[in-house]
Amino acid sequence: MAELGFEVVGVDTDPKKIEQLAAGVLPFHEPGLPELLRKHTTSGRLRFTTSYAEIGPWADIHFIAVGTPQKAGDHAADMTYVDMAVETLASHISRDCVIVGKSTVPVGSARRLSDLIRNTVAGDNTVSLLWNPEFLREGFAVQDTLQPDRLVVGGDDAQAIDLLKEVYGLPLASGTPFISTDLETAELVKAAANAFLATKISFINAFSEVTEHVGGDIRVLADAIGLDNRIGRRFLNAGVGFGGGCLPKDIRALQARVSELGLDRTMRFLTEVDEINLRRRDRVVHLAKEILHDLQGRKIAVLGVAFKPNSDDVRDSPALDVAAQLYNAGADVSVFDPEAMNNARLRFPRLTYSTSAAEALKDSTLTILLTEWEEFRTLDPSAVGETVESKSIIDGRNVLDPIRWQTEGWRFESLGRKS
Ligand code: UDX
Repeated sequence: MAELGFEVVGVDTDPKKIEQLAAGVLPFHEPGLPELLRKHTTSGRLRFTTSYAEIGPWADIHFIAVGTPQKAGDHAADMTYVDMAVETLASHISRDCVIVGKSTVPVGSARRLSDLIRNTVAGDNTVSLLWNPEFLREGFAVQDTLQPDRLVVGGDDAQAIDLLKEVYGLPLASGTPFISTDLETAELVKAAANAFLATKISFINAFSEVTEHVGGDIRVLADAIGLDNRIGRRFLNAGVGFGGGCLPKDIRALQARVSELGLDRTMRFLTEVDEINLRRRDRVVHLAKEILHDLQGRKIAVLGVAFKPNSDDVRDSPALDVAAQLYNAGADVSVFDPEAMNNARLRFPRLTYSTSAAEALKDSTLTILLTEWEEFRTLDPSAVGETVESKSIIDGRNVLDPIRWQTEGWRFESLGRKS
């Protein structure tokens, strides 16, 4: 927002995070963002605070961007943080302004929050709520924010919508489509987009179970169906499946919400999408057992723990899950990831955390690639082969060339391809 030309204050309840951000230090990995953070903390257009009292009377427009994680022991989204942020903000507002929700929420939340705002804001200040779902991908956050595919806004206050259009003046001027709709549709657009992406990945992964069985090649199959413009090749990469802070919890929350509305059968297919996805993780563990017979005490090198490359996020990471399963089955698991080591260590401290891919691989009896970082895609099978105890590799992301590895004497297994 500061890069788009606005004066921005970021609010968070965590003083440590705010301190770091104010000093120009980003608390997570996101390419291109540290530069923008430094540029605008220096230009003075971007400040940080823990004080709602500071921003309540100040801002023309407030964006709510707090998380909606999966509830513990339940598939539904935990709305505690959004509710708390909206209520606290509303109690500090002392002027006309607009609140814009960006968080991914169960359908119906925005209308409930509108009531909460109306009942909380003091005096006769006019405060409108719009819902403007966020579609950014980790690793591409800057690009997706400055040049989004589309902007979707739910709400019926024309003046508030015009103000939001001013905020997005630059992307709109360069042709970004703007879709204006009701609150419920806006909330559902986000849920539907993520459910579709998750389904597309599980669709190809279901076929990879078949190609594995009959001896086909899932990559060729994906390329061939992807050439049909109606299908498209993107998000048809078969492998260990989807993870992260969005797709898994969003498909579960959508199902939970739709069931709550009495439409029990409607989103039931998402249970299958989820199960296909989790089965791919089990398949990797199964392959490891097939190769090593007994995992007890065997040294396994796991390359990658982030849920995808160019991210340090390990939330619901397939890679970390597989590493943990192997450890729990008795293996001695050495992991390496270019960015996600600290986050992984916090979640699962018992793995061996190596300082490089070479260190993780040294003397290993099995190598498993689970996050397709560039440095793993370009590993040299001949050089790597010198340091391992046994030349066996599982390519959990279908990014390596089997012929090249096999020529160097490796046993090569992958998901959905004949070896
Ligand atoms: C996703 C949505 O893409 C984004 O629009 C939304 O705002 C937030 O959720 P993100 O979580 O950053 O973004 O990751 P994404 O790039 O969608 O990847 C999700 C997972 O799917 C990763 O674990 C990735 O490895 C996996 N994936 C992706 C596949 O397994 N195969 C593919 O073909 C594509």
